[in-house]
Amino acid sequence: MSTNTLLKLAALLVLAAAMALVGCEGDEGPAGPAGPAGPEGPAGPPGDDATISEFTFVGENGQACIHCHANTVDQMLLTAHTDALVNMDAEDQESPYCLQCHTVGWDRPVAFPGDDSWMTAENPDTMGYDDYFGVETEEAEERRMALAGVQCESCHGAMGPDFNDHRPAIAFGDIGSHDPENITADDITSICYPCHGTQFEGPEGDFTGGYATSGHASAAGGDLDAFQDEHYNHIGSCAVCHNSEGFIAANDPALADYEFDHDVNFIGCVTCHDPHMGAEGGGNPAQLRNVDDVVLSYTFPYEPDDPEAPTVTGYGNGQLCAQCHKGRRDNDNVAGQIANGYAHFGPHSSAQADMLIGYGSYEIPGDTYDRTHIHQSAEQGCVSCHMVRETVLHGSAQDFAFHNFRPDVGTNCSGCHGDAFGEDDITTFQDTIVALMDDLATRFGYADYLDMDANWDSTADGVEPWQREAAYAMFFVLGDGSLGVHNPDYAMDLLNNAIAYYDANAPGM
Ligand code: HEC
Ligand code: HEC
Ligand code: HEC
Ligand code: HEC
Ligand code: HEC
Ligand code: HEC
Ligand code: HEC
Ligand code: HEC
Ligand code: HEC
Repeated sequence: MSTNTLLKLAALLVLAAAMALVGCEGDEGPAGPAGPAGPEGPAGPPGDDATISEFTFVGENGQACIHCHANTVDQMLLTAHTDALVNMDAEDQESPYCLQCHTVGWDRPVAFPGDDSWMTAENPDTMGYDDYFGVETEEAEERRMALAGVQCESCHGAMGPDFNDHRPAIAFGDIGSHDPENITADDITSICYPCHGTQFEGPEGDFTGGYATSGHASAAGGDLDAFQDEHYNHIGSCAVCHNSEGFIAANDPALADYEFDHDVNFIGCVTCHDPHMGAEGGGNPAQLRNVDDVVLSYTFPYEPDDPEAPTVTGYGNGQLCAQCHKGRRDNDNVAGQIANGYAHFGPHSSAQADMLIGYGSYEIPGDTYDRTHIHQSAEQGCVSCHMVRETVLHGSAQDFAFHNFRPDVGTNCSGCHGDAFGEDDITTFQDTIVALMDDLATRFGYADYLDMDANWDSTADGVEPWQREAAYAMFFVLGDGSLGVHNPDYAMDLLNNAIAYYDANAPGM
């Protein structure tokens, strides 16, 4: 589009906004849902005039989509999004501030309750809810009902007036994957962000409590281009856990063979949340994609298909995290690593779920390991410590799912540990784990565990299987990342047993 065309478009948009305002006075009658099939449109946005806005909102809770996307519509109608308007108190349903996120196609930002600058804001006229707000005609009333709640077009963009010519915007991540030809001005960063700023930025609005500063959003330094260059820009075995498209393709049958025509995205809102299905539609709470049980892959002496094989189960919403944060070396691989060495020695650094339930490391035959630490009883597993905590929202204290995925000592730990528990207690414990890792590393001739991590070569000449047996524990505890907190007793046993084993085998000890 040339600059000239853009300028003309902008001028037309101003005009459209002005016309809509005239329409709001109501003296010309209903601002009807115009379009090719519509009645002769009186004042108001002329839908068949493509120069003003190519697409207009239809709403109707997906009834126009049902012939071709029946399952999706049925499931979507049973999500909380559908009830977003009716769930509000009657008086709030009259507040433009509230309505902007609880209806379809509201395209003028309202900064705070009582702010009426939106009425003159220069935005594309797409015949969304705002265009009928305050208009007292039967037709406007019908349009408001058709545009209630969050519907297909809230995410896929305006698709009217003729659905047979639909060009849905579609996105698989949070940043930059929209169809640029079918996007509203407010809709730049993400389909979820405009309404879900609280999850994205955190309740304080300063990003620290939100997804934006999480490890998931910060992969490759938070640089999407760099992420796409170095991070498995394909749908292969790594993508299943490392990018949004990979996890979605593996978890959504409708997209199993989808040919993505774009680069991959960070793990983001639609990686973890199924946009169409919640618990009532046959899915999971909070529209989570997958909270299935996870059978651990290295659980010597069990084979993975052994019905007794240790399983991560019963952690509610925390089961989602275990789909990716689990070990991925099987018995043969681990046995091979011990026997012959391996370039990526140790577990993949994703074995947090294994550590939590006290399995998954190589264990020295004949030694005993205490698996049942109390942290296994955290009701939602990973989520209990890494997400939900109390905050003040709308002036009152309430539970909120913090999306920075960082544990917070203040509320995540104090429930069990009491208010006196603080960072120091964690550090003191982690220091004991670090000291054990150092003990082991110095036996191998390294300065400390970091030195060993950087320089250990399990395939080097002279490294013997018993040394690899002893070394594995350190790489397992290190890869877990919590420095023992996930399962203090198992971590201690792994390291203590490894040190004792080293001493029993090393010549001259
Ligand atoms: C006349 C049938 C029909 C109707 C009505 C229809 N669609 Fe589609 N839609 C399709 C077909 C066919 C595809 C392509 C499917 C494919 O590629 O597997 C599609 C694809 C899509 C996609 C995926 C686009 C992409 O880039 O992969 C979305 C999103 C979508 N439709 C949304 C909607 C919505 C929302 C509605 C109602 C407002 C709707 N559709 C109405 C037939 C229809
Ligand atoms: C910026 C967008 C936005 C605005 C403005 C907004 N909401 Fe919401 N509202 C949301 C989102 C997103 C959720 C669901 C996620 C959440 O709870 O954070 C929600 C949830 C709700 C819920 C359901 C809570 C529950 O426990 O089920 C109610 C009720 C509600 N909002 C009322 C209001 C009222 C009243 C206003 C105006 C004072 C308002 N909202 C303004 C986006 C918004
Ligand atoms: C909360 C946002 C949101 C809403 C509401 C929504 N979608 Fe989607 N839709 C998405 C996203 C994101 C994707 C791509 C990721 C995925 O499918 O999991 C998608 C994918 C699709 C696809 C292509 C993949 C597939 O599942 O076949 C179709 C078709 C589709 N949506 C139709 C609809 C229809 C019809 C509705 C309304 C009943 C609807 N969507 C409501 C966000 C949404
Ligand atoms: C037009 C605004 C809007 C958009 C766009 C939107 N949401 Fe929402 N969302 C809401 C509101 C409002 C609610 C609260 C509904 C209620 O509880 O009444 C909500 C609720 C939710 C919930 C809570 C469901 C539950 O069962 O408690 C999840 C999860 C969610 N949204 C995810 C998403 C994701 C992921 C996207 C992007 C793909 C998205 N939403 C896009 C407004 C929006
Ligand atoms: C079972 C899910 C899963 C699979 C499959 C997987 N990874 Fe990972 N990987 C993870 C998780 C989770 C982390 C982050 C662990 C952490 O931060 O503590 C990670 C971390 C990494 C890291 C450490 C640096 C970083 O980005 O945080 C590298 C490198 C890596 N993976 C490469 C790969 C490669 C290459 C493949 C494919 C051969 C692969 N992964 C397959 C889950 C997986
Ligand atoms: C790594 C996975 C993951 C990502 C990424 C993610 N979520 Fe969530 N989200 C969750 C889990 C798990 C829960 C349930 C927490 C709980 O049990 O309370 C949740 C809960 C929610 C809820 C319900 C809030 C509540 O308090 O009940 C909303 C709304 C939501 N997420 C929106 C989003 C949005 C918007 C994004 C993108 C900015 C996003 N999520 C990204 C995993 C994720
Ligand atoms: C789709 C796979 C996937 C899911 C689901 C997932 N993660 Fe991750 N997580 C990763 C990967 C991969 C990384 C490494 C950073 C990256 O590349 O995104 C990571 C990084 C992290 C980190 C930061 C680690 C660091 O070194 O900074 C934390 C903490 C974390 N995840 C916690 C969680 C929690 C809690 C959940 C569940 C609510 C969860 N993750 C769900 C794949 C996943
Ligand atoms: C008992 C509370 C608790 C539980 C349960 C828990 N974590 Fe942690 N996690 C922590 C603490 C505390 C840390 C250390 C943070 C630090 O040192 O800054 C941590 C560290 C991590 C790290 C490394 C973060 C980093 O910055 O390197 C990842 C990844 C992680 N946890 C993921 C998970 C996953 C996935 C689960 C579920 C299988 C889980 N956690 C269960 C408390 C917990
Ligand atoms: C479900 C309850 C529960 C939660 C939640 C919980 N803990 Fe614990 N934790 C315990 C109990 C009980 C012990 C054992 C106390 C003992 O043995 O003296 C413990 C022990 C510990 C230990 C010391 C281990 C040792 O044996 O000395 C550390 C460190 C620790 N927890 C950190 C945390 C952190 C950090 C969090 C929050 C991110 C957390 N815990 C959340 C119940 C919990």
